Amino acid sequence: PDRDLLIGRLPKCELHIHIEGSLEPDMMVALARRNNVTLPWDSVEAVRRAYRFGSLQDFLDVYYVGMSVLVTEQDFYDLATAYLRRAHADNVVHVEMFFDPQGHTSRGVAFDTVVNGLHRACRDARETLGLSASLIMCFLRHLDERDAERTLDAALAHRERIVGVGLDSSEQGHPPEKFRRVFARARDAGFHLFAHAGEEGPPAYVWQALDVLGVRRVDHGNRAVEDEALVARLARDRVPLTMCPLSNLRLRVIDDLVHHPLRRMTDKGVAVTVNSDDPAYFGGYVNDNFRAVAASLDLAPAEIVALARTSFEAAMMSAEERARAL
Ligand code: ADE
Ligand code: ZN
Repeated sequence: PDRDLLIGRLPKCELHIHIEGSLEPDMMVALARRNNVTLPWDSVEAVRRAYRFGSLQDFLDVYYVGMSVLVTEQDFYDLATAYLRRAHADNVVHVEMFFDPQGHTSRGVAFDTVVNGLHRACRDARETLGLSASLIMCFLRHLDERDAERTLDAALAHRERIVGVGLDSSEQGHPPEKFRRVFARARDAGFHLFAHAGEEGPPAYVWQALDVLGVRRVDHGNRAVEDEALVARLARDRVPLTMCPLSNLRLRVIDDLVHHPLRRMTDKGVAVTVNSDDPAYFGGYVNDNFRAVAASLDLAPAEIVALARTSFEAAMMSAEERARAL
């Protein structure tokens, strides 16, 4: 219908995409062959069948195995290039791409291999597709702060190729305050700060992301809706939430999209954006997320336009990138 045409045509930014979560099953199986990596699944169909998740942890267990097929700089280049082409087809004009270096360095893949491949893909996409793309490095919160510190040390050698740091992986039991010192160091080094919070974790974790880590934007933030004072704070300071409706559905953060908190947030003046999180695992890229949530919440055209507009407000674009995108 008209709503879908509008969504397709709207220029937008994607601000919550884990590049390792864009690894489609056919590329996973092809890279496993190319690199002689043994997977627990023996076909593309078997990989697809593994994509039934009861929780965030269920998904993460599959996600870390899936990314083990990524070994060479070319693998990271191919992965990011495929995603950027797909995003371009959805009229995405600017991307801020998460990556999980510890998911690779723990397997013996060098930090430089990861960043060189991803950065080259972002640079080439600027030339060939005309979209801007930047990199945000995430710390895995199930690991300790010392491991994050070592990862930050490695990132300092690539300071100009990484725009920010984030926090992801298993949320429950790993509060933002666990990473207070490493985030302070990242801030001093000039990185923008982000964190996943309130996906499965309580509103207290969103407060900590804001007040202890000092993040500029919150990834997910669903459970902030349970705390009226927190919603007011997000609205007052215009702290954007990067929401991911299909991810929430597939990871059972919500039982039905009609219960998604997006509308309750925008009604209170919170800046909300729509994103894909891990599109290869959750069955949809950014426009699929727009379509699904717009249909379930019966969003009006003006509300859909506002979501896309908010993605530009929430983006950390340079003046040059902003001029090119608008
Ligand atoms: N890593 C990749 N996707 C994630 C998500 N939705 N939450 C936490 N960590 C992640
Ligand atoms: Zn995420």
